[in-house]
Amino acid sequence: DWTMAEYRQTKIAEIRAQVGQGRVICGLSGGVDSAVAAVLIHEAIGDQLTCVFVDHGLMRQGEADQVVSLFRGHYNIPLVHVNAETLFLSGLAGLDDPEAKRKFIGKTFIDVFEDEAKKIGGADFLAQGTLYPDVIESVSFTGGPSVTIKSHHNVGGLPERMNMKLVEPLRELFKDEVRALGRELGLPDVFVGRHPFPGPGLAIRIPGAVSKDKCDILRKADAIYLEEIRNAGLYDAIWQAFAVLLPVRTVGVMGDHRTYEHVCALRAVTSVDGMTADIYPFDAAFLARVATRIVNEVQGINRVVYDFTSKPPGTIEWE
Ligand code: XMP
Repeated sequence: DWTMAEYRQTKIAEIRAQVGQGRVICGLSGGVDSAVAAVLIHEAIGDQLTCVFVDHGLMRQGEADQVVSLFRGHYNIPLVHVNAETLFLSGLAGLDDPEAKRKFIGKTFIDVFEDEAKKIGGADFLAQGTLYPDVIESVSFTGGPSVTIKSHHNVGGLPERMNMKLVEPLRELFKDEVRALGRELGLPDVFVGRHPFPGPGLAIRIPGAVSKDKCDILRKADAIYLEEIRNAGLYDAIWQAFAVLLPVRTVGVMGDHRTYEHVCALRAVTSVDGMTADIYPFDAAFLARVATRIVNEVQGINRVVYDFTSKPPGTIEWE
């Protein structure tokens, strides 16, 4: 029987004992887990920790800025912000196979991270926001032990390659406990309560080839959808909600003009752990309002559809 305040103190002592005078590097993904791990470790060892945020340009609207201002501004934690958008987008330009996209992003992420780690003189430890479900489902949390449905990207392999030991202070925790610890550490509620976001980012929400234009269109549609969900008070009842930009164009009419633009699909699911999921049953008026706003406000989209597929047989992400 322990509280999060005790857990925090216990972990701080453990981190100090493990790390001693060593240097620690932590990769921030923009998500809750790596942020909570970083803040906790910083509390334990201060500026022996350096955070590296590899910004692949595939984040949602405003998210990269949020991470940077939270760490530099609010917590004053040393942060290297690598803007690698051009590198990622140029490599993605020729790729339209989902696994090829995932593998490219995973590999490039590790390359950039390793370069940055070398630039700051290396480190003795690599910090990760690994959770208990990641430990027990260590092969892949989408496929079973014998089948990979999607290649997940993480920095696996890097610790050995760079001769670093791991610091994983969240290994005993489930997602809801990480959120509680994040609140205990003073992370803002909007950040702590955020829906999960996949490592490969918007690239896997743009089926087929990815471009900067498509990312910008998707960011706008996604922001409108999430704003409406928050306004309706539904955000916390949903595990994940997001827009997908389809590589299909359809004909429409706006005023007295013919349009020929992309289709946007909306997805929202409830889930306990992401392993299985049910669709969120929005009422039709809500969906119609979102569709109207997206078509009116986002140039490049003229039709909106809702994804009614549960998991299984569908996965949560489209790629
Ligand atoms: P799927 O699409 O497999 O997703 O049903 C299950 C959960 O995992 C997230 N997801 C990822 N998270 N790296 C991550 O960190 C990834 O490569 C990745 N792919 C999917 C997805 O958003 C959902 O929460």
